[in-house]
Amino acid sequence: MRSIKKGHKINFLITAGGTREYIDPVRFISNASSGKMGYRLAESAKKRNHNVLLVAAPVNQSIPRGIELLNVTSAGDMFKAVKSNFEKCDCLVMAAAVSDYTPVKKIDNKIKRSDKNLNLKLKPTKDILKWAGNHKRGKKLVIGFALEDKNLKTNAERKMKEKNIDIIIANKPSVIGEEKSTVWIKSKTGNWKAIKNKTKAFIANEIIKLAETLICSRQGYSQE
Ligand code: CTP
Repeated sequence: MRSIKKGHKINFLITAGGTREYIDPVRFISNASSGKMGYRLAESAKKRNHNVLLVAAPVNQSIPRGIELLNVTSAGDMFKAVKSNFEKCDCLVMAAAVSDYTPVKKIDNKIKRSDKNLNLKLKPTKDILKWAGNHKRGKKLVIGFALEDKNLKTNAERKMKEKNIDIIIANKPSVIGEEKSTVWIKSKTGNWKAIKNKTKAFIANEIIKLAETLICSRQGYSQE
């Protein structure tokens, strides 16, 4: 048995930030995600000596050293990036706030103002996490988040089942953009664990450690 810290690198694929769905060349639909959680996860995995590919929607975060970064804009772009890098990863962490809807049609030229109402027709985007949960094979680990303003644990457990994922991290909208956060973490067979009012770097480290433990036991490695 080899120890994970002595050379066993996990290939992490991590998404971060809020996707942008363009309406016309200058306007888009997005959300308030700061990208902090996704970036802290990428930094933590790198510090723990793993390989990291970070797929990031536009955020105001500096590029972490030694981390391969793939910039994307829309939910569609993020899906393509995850899809083409999913096979070679051991663990996908979907920390991105992916837009659930995108305009049916992007207008080619800037929409001119008018006194009339403007109706926007939106269509659902691909649920990337659900796609990953349904396509994971063998020992691959898929981790997702659940942002819930009510019935947090019940809704998060429903998402975990529906999207067929291994670990769910539930949190509330009030932590968006904050330095510190409170999360509830659950793996498929484990109980809920709360981490209250800790920095996102601390929480990210706990998530990466939990991923290491599950991957180690699946791959037959021991931990130090
Ligand atoms: N997610 C995704 N693709 C989408 C929407 C969400 O991969 N099109 C992922 C997010 O990255 C997150 C998880 O699904 O890891 C849950 O996202 P959340 O916004 O909490 O829930 P939704 O699935 O979008 O459902 P709802 O908005 O109805 O709560």
